Amino acid sequence: MTPSDVKATLSFSDGSPSMDLPIYKGSIGPDVIDIRKLYAQTGKFTYDPGFLSTASCNSKITYIDGDKGELLYRGYPIEQLATQCDFLETCYLLLNGELPNQAEKDEFVNRVTKHTMVNEQMQFFLRGFRRDAHPMAVLTGLVGGMSAFYHDSTDINNAEHRKIAAIRLIAKMPTLVAMAYKYSIGQPYIYPRNDLSYAGNFLRMMFATPCEEYKPNPVLERAMDRIFILHADHEQNASTSTVRLCGSSGTNPFAAIAAGVACLWGPAHGGANEACLNMLEEIQAMGGVSKVGEFMNQVKDKNSGVRLMGFGHRVYKNYDPRAKLMQETCNEVLAELGLENDPLFALAKKLEQIALEDDYFVQRKLYPNVDFYSGIVQRAIGIPVPLFTAIFALARTVGWIAQLDEMIGDPEYKIGRPRQLFVGAEKRDVKPIGSR
Ligand code: ACO
Repeated sequence: MTPSDVKATLSFSDGSPSMDLPIYKGSIGPDVIDIRKLYAQTGKFTYDPGFLSTASCNSKITYIDGDKGELLYRGYPIEQLATQCDFLETCYLLLNGELPNQAEKDEFVNRVTKHTMVNEQMQFFLRGFRRDAHPMAVLTGLVGGMSAFYHDSTDINNAEHRKIAAIRLIAKMPTLVAMAYKYSIGQPYIYPRNDLSYAGNFLRMMFATPCEEYKPNPVLERAMDRIFILHADHEQNASTSTVRLCGSSGTNPFAAIAAGVACLWGPAHGGANEACLNMLEEIQAMGGVSKVGEFMNQVKDKNSGVRLMGFGHRVYKNYDPRAKLMQETCNEVLAELGLENDPLFALAKKLEQIALEDDYFVQRKLYPNVDFYSGIVQRAIGIPVPLFTAIFALARTVGWIAQLDEMIGDPEYKIGRPRQLFVGAEKRDVKPIGSR
């Protein structure tokens, strides 16, 4: 961290001594005020629910400029990565800091490909779930369960263990997601195939049956790969912060990633693509495009509790760059499948057009986020709606691992332990039950 020449001074109106606080400069983005000695010197904490103004760590992985609508992985714009690299190159970049050359890529792809099978016992574990269980409930269990299968890579403080766990997680997530899907529809699991790409293999494990040959459609394969790239990392979001906090206790990597999966499930985070598609289907059932005005009135009415899902973001106060790329992919996939006139796509475009012009959204800087179009793409590919968030988890796994690895390697790493402003009852005595 580079110290700034400027210092912040904190003063108090009650005459308590003021305090100088160091400021650090990032390579880009806002400076941070270092408050680590605040409690020791003043006996006071800072108060910041939801971390609106708090940097919880320093990181070299992902940078977002929410006002410009810019997303960089290790300095590279997401637009260049999505159009010039594939997902496994992006994984290598996130994990290692640099894009691989051809030999490094071949070696990495080979390692991931050779780890895609899961322990045969996993299917018996899976069998314990109801077939109608939500895929995220199943995935939380399966990922957590990996720590019971791979004992030789559970020491989070051992760099070699973390490396093996990273490869295993990246390689096995598609297999687990596809197994959860096949289980839910009562079809046999399809084993991975090493001659296919990461995305192609996933599509095959999802949609092939033992009864006939399955050849992944290259347009859908590329679309799937792009979904993975766009979701691979997003700096200190809720699930990543969960993974860091969970991992900060020294728990094993599989347990920490399972915590991330659980956090991602929520509709304000990864569950938004599912919620967005459900919303589009509801409007369609109400009467489609003709009902958009009525729906928007509900969204703007604070008492209705209705939000325009797939719109708004804690960090982006501009168009989410991933949403633009996803809209492009959406056009390609719908054209490939002859679904250009898909009513949900037309509905999404209408909602977007109205929202981008409406004062309510303009004033609050609410723009489409990545989930607005990713649901339509996935639905067109044939992925059932409840599986959307599981696919997001599959893609985000590499980001979680890279962030966890960075945290463990940081000399300033400590167990995460926020403080609180206590506003409950003061000390009091327990009365006998008869007089309460
Ligand atoms: N529809 C309608 N109004 C909205 C929406 C929305 N989607 N999002 C925010 N607002 C309004 C809020 O009501 C609030 O209005 P007010 O100032 O009059 O009270 C204002 O915009 C600010 O919203 P906050 O909720 O305070 O913003 P915050 O940064 O906490 O929330 C969030 C961000 C959770 C993503 C929110 O925009 C939302 O719920 N969006 C819909 C869910 C969604 O798409 N989530 C996906 C996020 S991206 C991802 O995880 C990959």
